[in-house]
Amino acid sequence: MIGNYYIGIMSGTSLDAIDVVIAQRTEQGLQQIAGLAPTLPEQLRAQLLTICSNKATDLQTLGEVDHLFALTCADAVNQLLHKAGMQASQISAVGSHGQTIFHSPLSAMPFTQQIGDANIIAAKTGIPCISDFRRMDMAYGGQGAPLVPAFHQALFSQQGEQRTILNIGGIANISILGADNSVLGYDTGPGNMLMDAWVDKCLGHSFDKGASFALQGEVHLPLLIKLLADPYFTLNAPKSTGREKFNLNWLIPQLNGIDASDVDIQRTLLEFSALTISDQIKQHSDSGDVFVCGGGALNPLLMQCLQQQLTMHKVQDTHALNVDPMYVEAIAFAWLAEQRLLEKPIPLKAVTGAQKDAILGCVYLP
Ligand SMILES: Nc1ncnc2c1ncn2[C@@H]1O[C@H](COP(=O)(O)OP(=O)(O)O)[C@@H](O)[C@H]1O
Ligand SMILES: [Mg+2]
Repeated sequence: MIGNYYIGIMSGTSLDAIDVVIAQRTEQGLQQIAGLAPTLPEQLRAQLLTICSNKATDLQTLGEVDHLFALTCADAVNQLLHKAGMQASQISAVGSHGQTIFHSPLSAMPFTQQIGDANIIAAKTGIPCISDFRRMDMAYGGQGAPLVPAFHQALFSQQGEQRTILNIGGIANISILGADNSVLGYDTGPGNMLMDAWVDKCLGHSFDKGASFALQGEVHLPLLIKLLADPYFTLNAPKSTGREKFNLNWLIPQLNGIDASDVDIQRTLLEFSALTISDQIKQHSDSGDVFVCGGGALNPLLMQCLQQQLTMHKVQDTHALNVDPMYVEAIAFAWLAEQRLLEKPIPLKAVTGAQKDAILGCVYLP
């Protein structure tokens, strides 16, 4: 039977935490009733980083990390149920994104790979688990990403009003919601990923809390211009990207011949994210609200830069829509689980470039 409660699990390219929510179907859409974001255990994070950055790993390690990540997801679900005082039997399904270890939409044989065995999540929680959301879209020639614009449209679009939803995770993606309920969306490029990588290299911090490191520096124009020259930014949509492209190996060679201090580099990376995002928003929308979600919404300098660059828009986080910005993506996977049980195709053709709107996700019954 299809009920009213769904769980969504999301862990993005930042590898900061596993975001888990319980969402309830209401007439206004899916609404969060409880959430938890346990930090990824240090060893698991290190293993994932190695797999994602090296693009090479042995099969034993891959299999074991797949298992361990699933156990960590299942633990998070069980903890959240306990916190919310709910039983597994009340939840219709868990939608689990899994951890992307490689996303390659443009290779000769396009593929995307997420790990976190859904069999284990179903078995350890006693709840049907739905995962592998991206690959049917890719089977129909789509990029398999981003998927959240369909959810943004379902939850946030408002007839007669143009709105932009901007998710700033490791990668940033935009959803342009038209006044006619249309949606257009794609990955604009780096969100927090390069800032995280640089502050980690300089200070050993996993991210630049409150932008305190960036605030000590100034934008280094020659470096900014160099970064902006990457062909990704002039590629036409549909387009999606990930850690396999925008990482330290991409950044460091570009610092050759650049005379900038560490803090100037941090400040420039922030400007770079803000500019590549705001440029793309301006291409598709000349005014209206920009609602920001993802961890980038908690970076005050990034939010300030975006507002300065988007003079015709009002930039605010999704609290203005009564949704916690840190959980929007996890709620999206609760929604995708519900849509899968209902066997509804997800309207993503215009976003991913797929030949048709497909039913997304595989169901694993406990
Ligand atoms: N207080 C903060 N100040 C600055 N940046 C923050 C803050 N809180 C979170 N972030 C940023 O948000 C990132 C996590 O965002 P998230 O939306 O979870 O990304 P992902 O979906 O890739 O996991 C962190 O790595 C960090 O860069
Ligand atoms: Mg995260």
